[in-house]
Amino acid sequence: MFKIAIDGPAGSGKSTISKLLSSKLNFEHIDTGAMYRAITLKALKLGINLENEDEYDFLDDTIIELDHDKIFLDGVDVSKEIRSVEVTTNASTPAKLGRVRTCLVDLQRKIAASKNVIMDGRDIGTVVLPNADLKIYLDASCECRAERRRLERSLAGVEKSFEETLQEIIVRDHKDSTRAISPLKVADDAIVIDSSNLTIEEVINKIIGLVNERVNKSMSEKVITFTEGQEVVGTIINVSKEAIYIELEGENKAVIYDNDMAGYVEGQKLRDYYFEGGEFKGLVKQITKDNRSNKPLYILSTKLYKAREEIKVFDELKEKDEIIKAKVIHVSNAGCDLLYKGHDDIKVFLPAKNIYLNEKALHSLRGEMIDVVVTNVDHEQIKVIVSHSAAQSKIRKAAKEAAYNALQVGDVVEGVVDSVTDFGAFVKLGELTGLLHRSELDHKLVRNVSDQVKVGQNITVKVIKLEEGKIGLSVRALTPHPWDVLKEQYHVGDVFEGTVVKIINAGLIIKLTEEYSGLMPNVEFSWRTNERIEGNVNEGDTIKVQVMAIDNNKKKVSLSHRATVENLWANINIKPGTVINVEIAAIQEKGAVVNYETISGFLPVNEVTDAKRIGKVDEVYPVGTKVDAIVLECDPGRAKLVVSVKKLENQKERAEFDRFLEKQESETPSTTLADLLGESLKKFSE
Ligand code: DC
Repeated sequence: MFKIAIDGPAGSGKSTISKLLSSKLNFEHIDTGAMYRAITLKALKLGINLENEDEYDFLDDTIIELDHDKIFLDGVDVSKEIRSVEVTTNASTPAKLGRVRTCLVDLQRKIAASKNVIMDGRDIGTVVLPNADLKIYLDASCECRAERRRLERSLAGVEKSFEETLQEIIVRDHKDSTRAISPLKVADDAIVIDSSNLTIEEVINKIIGLVNERVNKSMSEKVITFTEGQEVVGTIINVSKEAIYIELEGENKAVIYDNDMAGYVEGQKLRDYYFEGGEFKGLVKQITKDNRSNKPLYILSTKLYKAREEIKVFDELKEKDEIIKAKVIHVSNAGCDLLYKGHDDIKVFLPAKNIYLNEKALHSLRGEMIDVVVTNVDHEQIKVIVSHSAAQSKIRKAAKEAAYNALQVGDVVEGVVDSVTDFGAFVKLGELTGLLHRSELDHKLVRNVSDQVKVGQNITVKVIKLEEGKIGLSVRALTPHPWDVLKEQYHVGDVFEGTVVKIINAGLIIKLTEEYSGLMPNVEFSWRTNERIEGNVNEGDTIKVQVMAIDNNKKKVSLSHRATVENLWANINIKPGTVINVEIAAIQEKGAVVNYETISGFLPVNEVTDAKRIGKVDEVYPVGTKVDAIVLECDPGRAKLVVSVKKLENQKERAEFDRFLEKQESETPSTTLADLLGESLKKFSE
């Protein structure tokens, strides 16, 4: 195995160089910076205090996987996300914590085991791979690195000034090289390459030259090794009952057991098919150690060939994001091994974290067929990672969509109040959640939603809106409008005993329903104009009223009390000019109220007398006086009667004067010219 460690400060070109080298040399590239970034991303998402080591418990169940240039965090591709400015600026904090470093260094060593790798970072040559075959310390001036980083960002559409980037580089250098654990430093046996004045090509060629030098040296030492998954050819040296032993190039030993052989049928004799000296081709399934020679022992498989083909089925399933049914064949606390449709050679693993079940429930799954989706396909290790929880959420999502599509505006459904906010309540309708807006709780204004509904309460609601997956609900729409309730209860002409809620200038406010009151105007109180509300009715009293009008537009009801008592004016019809005898009933500012038979009328103060100037009627007629008066106006429709004593007096005086004139006329001799002429002619003739 050949391992190359590339260390160096931020922006020295480690990633670019490592990537290119890996494809030229066909070595696996391990970007350890990306791993620190992935942990930083998860820590940021969890919202922990980055500085506090105790909050990094999540490391225990975090899965980081590298696949070529992609990095997966818990099965999700985060290759892009880890390059954000937020992750970049924060990554040095988790990277300085011992707990994070121990975890990642461990993982880095595991990944690098038994592979040709190029690993880049800060502590690869010094800590992670102290025995690396080649250690490079890639350096460049701060200015040069700042300009490279600025350009790289600009290409990615992020603009930052050179000065700002330079400052960032200086700060990161300082942080990376002064931290207590694994600071950035040049390993004793590292070769320093300053790339400030070199092209990428030049750096690559330099490193390839160094690799060749070292490989040639080790080749001369004749150490040949193989990696897991590598195809190997060797010579059969022994065939036993259940295994074939093979010698590979470089005196390496390999073995293949019958159950790793493609097409092997239980009970078959291997010796019938394989012979010593024959050629054998297989894939390295596992590398163990030969206890006697202490050299590697390669365990081969031919089933793996088949599996490599078969695993493509899972690529397709992953691509389609399809839910599949797989059988649980083994359960451990780490998760379940599954079998999918006879693809027995492929390890399908369901990590415990991808399933929402406690340990006991997890174990009870053995033998069950469960729904899963493929989240990761590892071609190297012929291993498929699946998720039960992802399948569950997919199923739930589909069920939700179906439930939503089945809903219709106008449906009346049962729900449970899930949460209450200022603007309304969220109601669970099985898988779905709808909003019961404050304005839809009641016909009247609701100020406090929590006064009306409580979390956990069962509630019947009407679907009033379905828009872009959102559901609008209403309780209001299920209850009749209070005005309609009122109209059911009250009709024009109805007579009822109403409670006086308030006395206002215009009349009485009388309660009709919880929501509405009616108005009885002053004029509707009594047929008598002098009869007033004050003194007769108090707030809280009940009073008999009749519904006179219901105005649907203004939502107003007019009431009358006097309509419920006999209309004393009904049979009254007095012509103006009629003389009637009235009784002075009450003295008022502008005149007196007078009673006449069953009704009352008004005698204005200026209609009392011409004899003298008076201020009040009782200066002439005290209350109780009966007096003749002449009717000036009588309008039963408006319950109006106006009388005058003065006009009657005037009339009388006039009549008296007329009578006097008449009498005088009859007593006085004729004095006309003819009379006088007749008289004198008479005298003349005498
Ligand atoms: O190389 P990079 O910018 O992707 O690294 C991200 C962070 O991780 C940076 O703060 C340095 C740190 N790091 C480290 O401490 N050790 C490593 N082996 C790799 C990176």
